[in-house]
Amino acid sequence: MGQTQLDWWRSAVIYQIYPRSFADANGDGIGDLPGITSRLGSLKSLGIDAVWLSPFMRSPQKDAGYDVSDYCDVDPLFGTLDDFDRLLATAHSLGLRVLIDLVPNHTSDQHEWFKRAVAAGPGSPEREFYHFRDGDAPPNNWQSMFGGPAWTQLPDGQWYCHLFDSSQPDLNWENPKVQEAFEDILRFWLDRGVDGFRVDQPHAMGKAKGLPDHPDVERAGAGFIEGEPSPPMWFQESVHPIFRKWRAILESYPGQRAMCGEAYVLPLSFMALWVRPDEFHQTFNFRYLDSPWTAKDIRKTIDESFDAFGAVGAPSTWVLSNHDVMRHASRMGGDFGRTTASDGVGPNDPQPDAELGLKRALAATLFTLGLPGSMYLYQGEELGLPEHTTLEPEFRQDPTFARTNGARVGRDGCRVPLPWESNVNESSGFNQTGKSWLPQPAAYANYARDLQEGVEGSTLETYKWALAKRKELNLGHGTFEWAEDLCSESVLAYRNRSLLVIHNFETNETTWKLDS
Ligand code: NOJ
Ligand code: CA
Repeated sequence: MGQTQLDWWRSAVIYQIYPRSFADANGDGIGDLPGITSRLGSLKSLGIDAVWLSPFMRSPQKDAGYDVSDYCDVDPLFGTLDDFDRLLATAHSLGLRVLIDLVPNHTSDQHEWFKRAVAAGPGSPEREFYHFRDGDAPPNNWQSMFGGPAWTQLPDGQWYCHLFDSSQPDLNWENPKVQEAFEDILRFWLDRGVDGFRVDQPHAMGKAKGLPDHPDVERAGAGFIEGEPSPPMWFQESVHPIFRKWRAILESYPGQRAMCGEAYVLPLSFMALWVRPDEFHQTFNFRYLDSPWTAKDIRKTIDESFDAFGAVGAPSTWVLSNHDVMRHASRMGGDFGRTTASDGVGPNDPQPDAELGLKRALAATLFTLGLPGSMYLYQGEELGLPEHTTLEPEFRQDPTFARTNGARVGRDGCRVPLPWESNVNESSGFNQTGKSWLPQPAAYANYARDLQEGVEGSTLETYKWALAKRKELNLGHGTFEWAEDLCSESVLAYRNRSLLVIHNFETNETTWKLDS
């Protein structure tokens, strides 16, 4: 076994596929599993190691699939279980691993468990699957991440808790039956051959006993304030034994199955508790994504990352874009803080500078790809795609938009279907029909893959070159050292094995004279 085979997840470049926007085989305007299978060859040629698929399980799609109504079936929108098996077999034949998205904090309100709970009535064991409470008013002051209260009342008077949309009731993880049901779900997919899971919101699964008020809801809203005590709905210690059990299940299968937790926990020393050797293999390093792109901030984040994850023997992951935040090619083209980054930008907001944003984003990606650890890429960033920042309100689908009466535009702008072939039709080759569940901005035709393939200096070819170098020098399993003599207030430089990376955070042109 070569070194790159060792603990593959420690160094892997994992490409996030957002199924509804990747490739559409049947032309209905929504991407699907056969579409993904047909394009896996292009991902192989990009040079990635694995893909992570956002949810494709049965779902009413109230939160683009993060509202699951059957964890062990494929939503007809995306295909069938047979289609999934074909996708998996094709990926494996190309040497690509496949992680799927598991959503354990909440189900859809159309899941059998919730329907049974509603039908069985107050006090029934079925209601113990979720958090139901009596009362004339919401049982506490918790807020939904998508805006508005985190409680909805049923006609029989009981309230149920939902940290996200009202169509996404939170499961009660104190209930052993919920725990057992999820162990079966893990096995169902592991038996099918998946290489692991990206786990949605694991830090929300535990709730403080008695569901007390959030002590500072005015200030923290649905979130938390770093350095202050855990709010009652996040980071509860009670969840760790669950993940230890999951890890043991994964390890009982051959072939290094792995799980990455979307544990939005800060500081990083706290996040590292989630990747102790018997828990998650990885977590997303959101601190990196959130850090202002300045030499000072990025240096601090990198140091903290190696310290925190190194202390528990885990690799750091690195991530700049995903389906919940503004694409980094746009984020870096203006002064967009994290709040705006996660809420997107609308036609009435200040607009990013596309050219500057892309230059900075590409430089940021190259800088990041030199780091040891595992890297997550989000579909379309290899084309340099900008955010769709002028999407009109009638197209908005993210529940955040409706729940805040449009005050927050939501995340649709980073979820627009990919352009594959320029000028073949209105959806730039996303399918054969030109239909598209979200319209592409006109500029997307200029970023289509076919315009970049084989073109020296294109964003796509630059990604391919960097990914090939990363593999050739085994940088993911590499070493890290600041090249202090080259670092300054606006420049960071480091060495990983024989590679020297120098990054200028300013827009001025600079040259360096190197000794060798
Ligand atoms: C995090 C997912 O990435 C996001 O898209 C989703 O809306 C929430 N979790 C709720 O599942
Ligand atoms: Ca389709």
